[in-house]
Amino acid sequence: FCSRLVLGIETSCDDTGAAVLDETGAILGESLHSQKEVHLRTGGIIPTVAQQLHRENIERVVHEALERSGVTPSQLSAVATTVKPGLALSLGIGLEFSKRFVRQHSKPFIPIHHMEAHALTVRMLQPVPFPFLVLLISGGHSLLTVARGVDDFLLLGQTLDEAPGDTLDKVARRLSLTKHPQCSTMSGGQAIELLAKKGDRMRFPFTTPMGQSYDCCFSFAGLRNQITMAIVKKEKEEGVEQGTLLSCVNDIAAAAQHTVAVHLAKRTHRAILFCKANSLLPSNSPTLVLSGGVASNQYIRNALSIITETTGLHLLCPPPQLCTDNGVMIAWNGVEHLREGKGILSPNVDVFYEPKAP
Ligand code: KG4
Ligand code: ZN
Repeated sequence: FCSRLVLGIETSCDDTGAAVLDETGAILGESLHSQKEVHLRTGGIIPTVAQQLHRENIERVVHEALERSGVTPSQLSAVATTVKPGLALSLGIGLEFSKRFVRQHSKPFIPIHHMEAHALTVRMLQPVPFPFLVLLISGGHSLLTVARGVDDFLLLGQTLDEAPGDTLDKVARRLSLTKHPQCSTMSGGQAIELLAKKGDRMRFPFTTPMGQSYDCCFSFAGLRNQITMAIVKKEKEEGVEQGTLLSCVNDIAAAAQHTVAVHLAKRTHRAILFCKANSLLPSNSPTLVLSGGVASNQYIRNALSIITETTGLHLLCPPPQLCTDNGVMIAWNGVEHLREGKGILSPNVDVFYEPKAP
């Protein structure tokens, strides 16, 4: 191999991921173990369960990624691992494994910020020069940031309560969508996107959050409350038990998805105007990168494309498999650090990062 090789390891939430990338962003080998099914059954992530599943899978996942790549540990240039933010117990497994691994093989260690990795993944596929605007929407986060460099981010706004993916997951759970024949193995967000296609969003006119707030922050808890109250009202009208609503489910899904999309689009519009007023983006072909699990939603993408079209921004969305958590985006962030010689630690550093309990 003439190019430098990085092993990336991700365990911040409910995916155990590993990947080996070369310096050009070519994926030489990867492996991903998702805990989604287990957490769907328990109605949400129980941190100790997630930790145990990471513990059971980390070794195999890393070795699979290495084996598939044909790269031996000694050929690696560095190991990059998510150290924050995320579930402390989950992060700990990846971190402990990586500490042992880099010591054993005497490899430099690159601690990775999960959100920064999401934000820069797009650069793996095409050259997107700094600075660019990023909207990151997932189950755990909702934020707008200007990416100015590999380790230089200007945070414009984030969620004041929960993230849009979390909201959609909770609404889906409240509607028992996993019992729905078409949605049994889907995430809440995916289930809502599917059902919304057959729904009429006008039947539930939810109020878009933060209409009077002149910043770039987000809020979804109040919207979730509106949606829950609408579900309760319908259940009462129909005289059915909680979580067994049959009619209107598509319409509620459509209205929920629409309101989330409008909220995201309005806040992003504000961020773009702010960036323009303060010359934070290049005047020549400024870019909005849309990433995170919720970014795979086509309806939400369309809403954002209307905003970028009217403001003259170029909209980039990495493909869905790169928008969700995986080892690839972590390895890529390692490559970005390695190229710039930033944030690279020696294999013998005793304490890299101890994630704080939430
Ligand atoms: O990025 P991700 O895999 O994990 C983190 O949260 O970091 O995102 C998962 C989230 C879940 O909340 C899921 O419901 C949501 O992304 N999601 C979607 C869609 N696919 C996944 N939300 C809306 N529409 C989708 N098609
Ligand atoms: Zn993520």
